[in-house]
Amino acid sequence: MLKIRDLVVRYGGITALDRVSADVRQGETVILLGANGAGKSSLINSVIGIVPAAAGTIQLDGQTISAVPASGRAAYGIGYSPEGRRVFASMSVRDNVLAGAARLSRAAQRQAYAKLASLFPMLESRANDLAGYLSGGQQQIVAIARAMSASPRLLLLDEPFLGLAPVWIQQISAAIRQFRAEGTTILMTEQMAIPALKVATRGYVMRGGLVIREGSVEDIRESALTEDYL
Ligand SMILES: Nc1ncnc2c1ncn2[C@@H]1O[C@H](COP(=O)(O)OP(=O)(O)OP(=O)(O)O)[C@@H](O)[C@H]1O
Ligand SMILES: [Mg+2]
Repeated sequence: MLKIRDLVVRYGGITALDRVSADVRQGETVILLGANGAGKSSLINSVIGIVPAAAGTIQLDGQTISAVPASGRAAYGIGYSPEGRRVFASMSVRDNVLAGAARLSRAAQRQAYAKLASLFPMLESRANDLAGYLSGGQQQIVAIARAMSASPRLLLLDEPFLGLAPVWIQQISAAIRQFRAEGTTILMTEQMAIPALKVATRGYVMRGGLVIREGSVEDIRESALTEDYL
């Protein structure tokens, strides 16, 4: 579904990705693991189009999207949850989540919200509260639910577990499994290898802008755990 070949990302003189190739096949949950600065966000952000590729190609279902602006990529059915807790502080929890589903009908939005609230009960109890008043962990849930709200074909999650208590990590993991069961293809990043390896089907371990290991969860486990402690 997603085919990345020899992708190079540079910020001024810094090379964040140095000819990285990766594939995400239909129905997989692929994890990008690696320590701070490995290049995980740079890869996700170039797929969504907010970071330009200096070289290489990104193909989605055989179409090259590297040159399509970020605004055009939502039409491909890509959902994206950025790193950090990005919510609209002065909007309600419900409106934050449904901002990701603006193209759906009212009825479909209601259905999408009910489904997400069954996965994240906080969305039910805090639906009308301003997102700015939520705890950091709750804001993270809102941002992830927003990415999921339009039932994307490809879901990109950048460090969904970052700084969260185990109870939230479990809820997000259950939601990821649910979306995968319904056919959503997922590409996510994490620094925390242990919970990430539990939801992934395959993965890549990155360091210094390079892929240093790739394969099944079993193939990458040892390398991923080593990077986790660096
Ligand atoms: N906007 C930017 N300007 C300059 N350098 C950047 C920028 N964004 C990232 N970098 C650099 O690019 C490299 C890769 O960063 P990236 O954010 O992709 O890593 P990461 O694996 O997501 O790290 P983290 O786990 O800390 O989120 C790092 O050396 C980082 O300092
Ligand atoms: Mg990052």
